Amino acid sequence: MVESNPPLLHEYSQILRHSKQDCAVQSNIVSDKYDGSSECELPLIDLRYLKSENEEERACCIEEIARASSQWGFFQVVNHGISLQLLDKMRSEQIKLFNAPFENKASCGLLNNSYRWGTPTATCPHQFSWSEAFHIPLTKISEEECYGQFTSLREVMMECASAMQELSKLLAGVLLTNLGHRMELFDEICDESTCFLRLNHYPPCPISLELFGLVPHTDSDFLTILHQDEHVSGLQLMKDGKWVSVKPNKDALVVNIGDLFQAWSNDVYKSVEHKVIANSRKERFSVAYFLCPSYDSIIGSCKQPSRYKTFTFREYRNKTQHDVKLTGHKVGLPR
Ligand code: SIN
Ligand code: FE2
Repeated sequence: MVESNPPLLHEYSQILRHSKQDCAVQSNIVSDKYDGSSECELPLIDLRYLKSENEEERACCIEEIARASSQWGFFQVVNHGISLQLLDKMRSEQIKLFNAPFENKASCGLLNNSYRWGTPTATCPHQFSWSEAFHIPLTKISEEECYGQFTSLREVMMECASAMQELSKLLAGVLLTNLGHRMELFDEICDESTCFLRLNHYPPCPISLELFGLVPHTDSDFLTILHQDEHVSGLQLMKDGKWVSVKPNKDALVVNIGDLFQAWSNDVYKSVEHKVIANSRKERFSVAYFLCPSYDSIIGSCKQPSRYKTFTFREYRNKTQHDVKLTGHKVGLPR
């Protein structure tokens, strides 16, 4: 096995920071390589109808969510109940955080465990993500010592995480009832210490033809809520064997099914591979919320015969971390 030798965190930070200047200077880079992907309109679902007094409208909305989850594994929602002002505030705090000098971040708790550069396990360029992230479990979001001088970041993250948590549970509940479960099941099995909020930053990349912003992957959770950059595209997903780009929509949030929901639903809902392409000229930001169960939750399909072995979330987490260390990617759900 080839051992990766990640540069020091400070060096990563400098490389990403200087890439902004380098990319501005390299005027010969006009556009990124044509990567053969086409732009798609993800199913767009108006969640206003989930609360409609009209039973038919409610049923139709549930049906759209379930269909998109099984045919695409991805969809967008509008009228999702999270104020656009809050999402804008989150974006401004995120920009302040990622633009702050390394020293300011290093002098407070910000860099303790929650801050990530690139992919430390990468052993070759196509396993490396040209991005940095502030990735924090829900249980830690309110802890003042995580933020130092970034106090307004803390307040906005708390507000944003709680709104996204509520939305993710609502959607997961809809998908569960569609499979014949009780709506409240997620309240019982979800654990704040395993759910995460993640702020992503994709700086301009001087070697964007060789690297990904985020390497192809599926999410290891139940369900993810994503606030994409409204100005800079980059998210691509696999549809019918081809990469398609997701067009940003400023009013919508993107929702995707994770591995655990695929196993739980016995492949009715699909956890679909996705990636972020690197951009040579523009930086990109996104916010993701990951809905996860407690580590001891048993993931098993409700339908028999089950296509998956029963496993706990802890076992799956350990297995995927082990796979990624050895091979650079997850090997799959335990069939
Ligand atoms: C992710 O897949 O976790 C993030 C995707 C994005 O930044 O659009
Ligand atoms: Fe993802």
